[in-house]
Amino acid sequence: MSIDVRVVEDAQALAVHAAQEVVDQLRAALEARGSATLCLSGGSTPRTTYERIAGHHRHALPWERVTFLFGDERCVPADDVASNARMAREAMLVTLGVPRAHVLRIEGEHGPALASELYEARLRETFPGVTLPRIDMLLLGIGNDGHTASLFPGDAALEERERWVCPARAPDEPHDRVTLTFPVLTAARRALVLVSGAGKTATVDACLRHLGERSGETSATVPPAARVTPTEGSLSWLIDEAAAG
Ligand code: 6PG
Repeated sequence: MSIDVRVVEDAQALAVHAAQEVVDQLRAALEARGSATLCLSGGSTPRTTYERIAGHHRHALPWERVTFLFGDERCVPADDVASNARMAREAMLVTLGVPRAHVLRIEGEHGPALASELYEARLRETFPGVTLPRIDMLLLGIGNDGHTASLFPGDAALEERERWVCPARAPDEPHDRVTLTFPVLTAARRALVLVSGAGKTATVDACLRHLGERSGETSATVPPAARVTPTEGSLSWLIDEAAAG
């Protein structure tokens, strides 16, 4: 598949471009369907994008009409510094005044099995009567090992094709995670992968090589992040110069 890859100068430029992309996509969804879903990535990279949205775009959209999801979560208490939901709340959600009912938090504190079941139930309530949810704007990051969301190389979660959400196991602490599965990620209307920093150069190169070759294979050699190829949606990678190498 042809991949839209955009290289920007630095992490701040990445946040500016990513925030604008999010707002544009959500505005289009609201105009087309009267509602919009934004799935947030965790880790450290997206924080500046979330802060940019909360600051520069605070009045750009009726944020109360957007439903916020998470691509994955660590199985830690909600107020733990490692929580993706805590990061998103502090960086953006509180400032935007998003009602808690519009934030589908993954309740990682219940452990991976129960948290996965609870989150899947809420997703199925949010996207009733469909085989797969079509997330309007899906944000993803990648790890140095090529993982995305909490789909880590070699983990059983990579092979899940029925459930929308499942437990996952990370090599680094906190090991227990909850993640959206590949079928949900590839059903997104628009996926935007954000990558920043020199440490990701080799992984970016490996992923884009596989994506460019229409590899299609699901062998262990393909980094999980390279396997997010939306079936009907669009995919872009937004990379800063450090990560582009
Ligand atoms: C998480 C994320 C994960 C993240 C990558 C990159 O829970 O950690 O969802 O997929 O995007 O690990 O993390 P950094 O942005 O911190 O490098």
